[in-house]
Amino acid sequence: MEDMDRRDFMAAALGGVTFLGASGLLGRNPAIAAILSEAATQVYTRRNVYCLTAASPEIVAYKTAIQAMQALPDTNGVSWMAQANIHGTFTPPPGMITAACQHNTMFFLSWHRMYVYFFERIVRKMSGDPNFALPYWGYSPTGSHDLPQIFRTPTTGNPLYTPNRSASINAGTPIIPALVDAGTALSQVPFFDFTNSLNGLPHGQVHMAVGGGMANFQQAAQDPIFWLHHCNIDRLWELWLGRGAGRVNPITDLIWRTTPFQFYDENGGTVMLTGEKIVDTACQLHYQYESDDCGKVIVFDPRWWERLSHIRIPSAAIAAKLDSLGARPPLPAPQSLTQAQQPIQLGAKPVQVALPVSDEGKRILATWSRGESGGHINLVLDDIQVQGTPRVAYEVYINLPTDVRNPEYTGPNFVGAVNLFGPSSRDMHAAKPESQIIPLSLVYLRLREAERWSDDTVRVTFVPRGLTEGEDPARTLRGATQVIIGRVSVQIQ
Ligand code: C2O
Repeated sequence: MEDMDRRDFMAAALGGVTFLGASGLLGRNPAIAAILSEAATQVYTRRNVYCLTAASPEIVAYKTAIQAMQALPDTNGVSWMAQANIHGTFTPPPGMITAACQHNTMFFLSWHRMYVYFFERIVRKMSGDPNFALPYWGYSPTGSHDLPQIFRTPTTGNPLYTPNRSASINAGTPIIPALVDAGTALSQVPFFDFTNSLNGLPHGQVHMAVGGGMANFQQAAQDPIFWLHHCNIDRLWELWLGRGAGRVNPITDLIWRTTPFQFYDENGGTVMLTGEKIVDTACQLHYQYESDDCGKVIVFDPRWWERLSHIRIPSAAIAAKLDSLGARPPLPAPQSLTQAQQPIQLGAKPVQVALPVSDEGKRILATWSRGESGGHINLVLDDIQVQGTPRVAYEVYINLPTDVRNPEYTGPNFVGAVNLFGPSSRDMHAAKPESQIIPLSLVYLRLREAERWSDDTVRVTFVPRGLTEGEDPARTLRGATQVIIGRVSVQIQ
């Protein structure tokens, strides 16, 4: 039964890809689009911030609303601080919804979609602009990837500016392309591989690159760029879905679908939403995304992939294998293939660890490769400890050939970047170390196909990079170690 549902949803998603109507709707099949046009409800269009100027209605309205919201006390649900406190806070006002953000969980995408949705409704009301839609920060490795100019102009009365960011970002220095490239995430086929991948890259990397308040859970949503960043993460979810070939939402997962979350609506009242109420942005939430080149191309133009990423999209054969994972007999429990014997300290130099795979691990991997068992191969980083706000990113590579000194993230061994975005250690109670899952199934299949995977050892390489162009980790870290990964393991789960 579950399987049939899954096939149906897949058919719907694939139907959306072939439908290239000029409506600009993302991944809708014609039937759904027709229902939509009958409804009188307005569908708001979220536009790329790089297509806007200080005089654009969205920007004018956003500024007006920020000022109005900032003037309200944090006990008012529509105030700027109450909205930011929902995400995280150092000083939770009693009785309010606070510190509710979902990261490193199955609700990462759905919770942030709901959160941004109600925020947008609040801004629409507080700005007095009934057509307001939140712009998205459309960074990409092939297009712009600096902090948009209007957010870094420190003129008096510009509420989009805050000094609580890294100086290089506020000076307009672009983030390095690797950290804004969503290709690794968009390549994933199973939903939870996608969500785990996207959470770390570009999501967490962009938080860290902006720095300052954006680099911790408690203050991130106080920065006006936060909401445009999450609008973009939400858009990437739509683009992933629209790519089809097995990419579907986890609507058959009862917990994902029905777990309720609380927010404030535009009147300050408490409201609740669940996953099943937010899977269709146009029909259920009444918004859609304009393409990132200011609406010039149809979203499903095959070239959109190249516009978004330098990373190769997986072949149809590999995508089909990944799609079949859900139909295989599930594993009774997660199985560890190998684990590092000690914590890994990350500094200004690349670190490589070789993890020998146990005989039992080899047997499990062989069963998985033959398609006889289910589960996803993951690199699991547990107990990630971060001191302060490090100005460094760590790219992660699997089984990198040992003679490669300066690997390119566009190569076949790249799997993601360590997610250093987490609770600030200033808050001792909340500063529990974070975990991260980096999906390996795709890279495993690719490297096996190219006969560049041996089941004996998994080598993991961490390569430090500056967050913005010209930033040098050796200089910014000054020899200090700010990142320790307590446990590194490879699991099928
Ligand atoms: Cu809940 Cu990007 O943060």
